[in-house]
Amino acid sequence: MEKASLSKSEKKYSLDSLFNPKAVAVIGASRKEGSIGYMIVKGLKEGGFEGKIYPINPNADEILGIKCYPSILDVPGEVSFAVIAVPQKLVLEVVEQCGKKGMGGVTVISSGFAEVGNIEAEKALREICDRYNMWLVGPNIIGTLSNPAKCNASFSPQLPYPGNIAFVSQSGALLIGLIGQTVIKKIGMSHVISNGNMAGLDFADFVEALDKDEHTKVICLYIEGFKDGRRFLEAAKRCSKPIVALKAGVSKRGEIATRSHTGSLAGSPKVYKSLFRQAGVLQAFTVPGLFHRAEALAHLNPMRGDNLLIITNGGGIGVLATDAAEYYGIPLQEPPKDLQDAMRKWMPEFGSPRNPVDITGMGDRESYAGALRDALTHPWTDGVVVLYCETAQTDPMDIAQGIYQVIQETKTEKPVVVAYVGGERSEAAGEWLIQHGIPFYDDPEFTMSSMGTLRERGRYLERSKANGEFEPFEVDREGVRQILDRVRSESRLSLTEYEAGMVFKCYGLPYIKSVIVNNEHEAVGAARAMGFPLALKILSPDILHKTEAKGVVLNISSEDGVRAAFDAIMHNARAYKPDARIQGILIQKMARPGPTEVIMGASKDPQFGPVVMFGLGGIFVEVLKDVSFRAAPISPAEALEMIKEIKSYEIIKGYRGKKPKHVEYLAETISRLSQLITDFPEIKEIDANPAMLYEDDLDIVDALITLEE
Ligand code: COA
Repeated sequence: MEKASLSKSEKKYSLDSLFNPKAVAVIGASRKEGSIGYMIVKGLKEGGFEGKIYPINPNADEILGIKCYPSILDVPGEVSFAVIAVPQKLVLEVVEQCGKKGMGGVTVISSGFAEVGNIEAEKALREICDRYNMWLVGPNIIGTLSNPAKCNASFSPQLPYPGNIAFVSQSGALLIGLIGQTVIKKIGMSHVISNGNMAGLDFADFVEALDKDEHTKVICLYIEGFKDGRRFLEAAKRCSKPIVALKAGVSKRGEIATRSHTGSLAGSPKVYKSLFRQAGVLQAFTVPGLFHRAEALAHLNPMRGDNLLIITNGGGIGVLATDAAEYYGIPLQEPPKDLQDAMRKWMPEFGSPRNPVDITGMGDRESYAGALRDALTHPWTDGVVVLYCETAQTDPMDIAQGIYQVIQETKTEKPVVVAYVGGERSEAAGEWLIQHGIPFYDDPEFTMSSMGTLRERGRYLERSKANGEFEPFEVDREGVRQILDRVRSESRLSLTEYEAGMVFKCYGLPYIKSVIVNNEHEAVGAARAMGFPLALKILSPDILHKTEAKGVVLNISSEDGVRAAFDAIMHNARAYKPDARIQGILIQKMARPGPTEVIMGASKDPQFGPVVMFGLGGIFVEVLKDVSFRAAPISPAEALEMIKEIKSYEIIKGYRGKKPKHVEYLAETISRLSQLITDFPEIKEIDANPAMLYEDDLDIVDALITLEE
């Protein structure tokens, strides 16, 4: 059906046949009660799927009272998609038949593909689907579930609780468990997709399709690794809806586990964190955290400023929430005096209108509603967290209804979330709030992880508007081309420091002034012209580790010193590698005193392609690993954010009377570096380490570039 109405290229990206199916075939539908092939037919039937169900089994006439067909080619009507649940060795044959029949795509439940090293079979499966222009979900999945179509095409015993969160998960078993939880916790889902080995559709495809899906407001992802991380980042950036991701395998051990689980390589957790942030993907760290965040995003607007107010009847939960607010990046501020004065009338003498606003244990419906109304109608407030500890003399339901009434009355655009700590009466009130679209939690910490996410989303929307697109700088590409060609012609993969420095110069990267000299006489002449103090370094394509070869002398402050250093370096280099080709000695000005040492680099991430890295030098990078990453290329504005992301940013910003460093110039330099690695895919790695950052300048004092083989 979809085939007739859509062109080839359109259909590839249309998942209408998956999200809104009219007829589903189950190939491998089984008569064995409790088997996977049986449970899929049962799930479709009992889930209330209103389209046609076609069980396929050459050995059966009917399953669960539904007529069976020996093969998909015997089905009389059109089929939206087929669920494949036959043993692996039969999969290719039945998928080929699906292609001949003509349908939107296939979901392949069967295991036994790349996850166990059977790469060839997986490749063949993909080829068949491509040949017939069918989408492919899986293999090695539990199936897919769509609430709008009441289509449980999986071996989950039930559909998830209905709502507008879509969930795509690389883990099938976890997904089945979570579907059960959504029902108990009333977390509303639109589509739930198990994507397993991702031989066909990847996270990027689902993000694109769900962005267009009218039933979905938020996209949740459980990720172990990507096939093509770069494509995912681009899809996420384009996506208009919030995406929350739980990335598994962030520990060293976990990384190994996810790799063996899905057959895909997991990238470094630091890279994920930075690149997700760049693309606006919000990160969760636990399963409940994923759902809390998604719930808040599904029901509320992003928080558009930093002014968060807590209204509470208990000091204890107020303090806990205050701590959590800081942890999640929205530290509490004191509200303006007029707002404090207004709220004072809703509390006894011993209450507090500061933040948290403590209406005390006497706080009832009227006081909660009054304080909330004042807060929401005041321009200062950007979001409110309402906390309540159940007390004998107050009615949790009454308070919940008061909160709801104020939200309705004020028609507020500002996010409000609620947490109650209490017993059955509180639980009932919480359910009532959830049914009325107000995110409700039973712990103050969850209110803050949700608010933190809403603020992060708000910041991302502001920032993506402000950052703009990357605009290439005017650079000397031809100059770089010539240097790289010369290196290649000499069958080398590493540039000498001088060559790398010249590449930097072509791209406007501030490589420190350097001169090549070939004898003592030239060295002294150059030293006189440059002025002291100076550094001398061996220049040889065969000696990459200059320090190890004792090929570097720093802080030379006299002509005699230059002569001595020249002799020593030449002698050491010959001793280190007698056949090394020596191109001379590099003389550089020593960096001025007082800089902050920074490092910048660029490399190719196996999943995300070219990335740039930034950090402070020395122990900050070596011990603390305090670095940030971005997918290249990036604008100077994005580079500035990257600089601000490191924990030791205070050192650059200036502290205890120290002046701020030249951070705009640094940001421009990182942006130029990101252009260099993007323009020349043959570059494998670039290192500007160290670079000396001053209040008014930046000098790169060592340069390293290596090429792909
Ligand atoms: N077309 C359609 N049906 C066929 C068929 C064909 N060409 N050939 C056989 N069948 C039928 C069989 O007769 C059987 O039905 P029956 O039970 O009524 O006789 C049915 O297909 C299933 O075949 P069977 O050989 O019993 O397979 P199985 O149920 O033991 O296993 C899978 C099939 C797909 C479930 C199994 O191979 C598998 O991969 N399991 C792992 C699934 C999984 O865990 N996925 C990932 C989750 S994270």
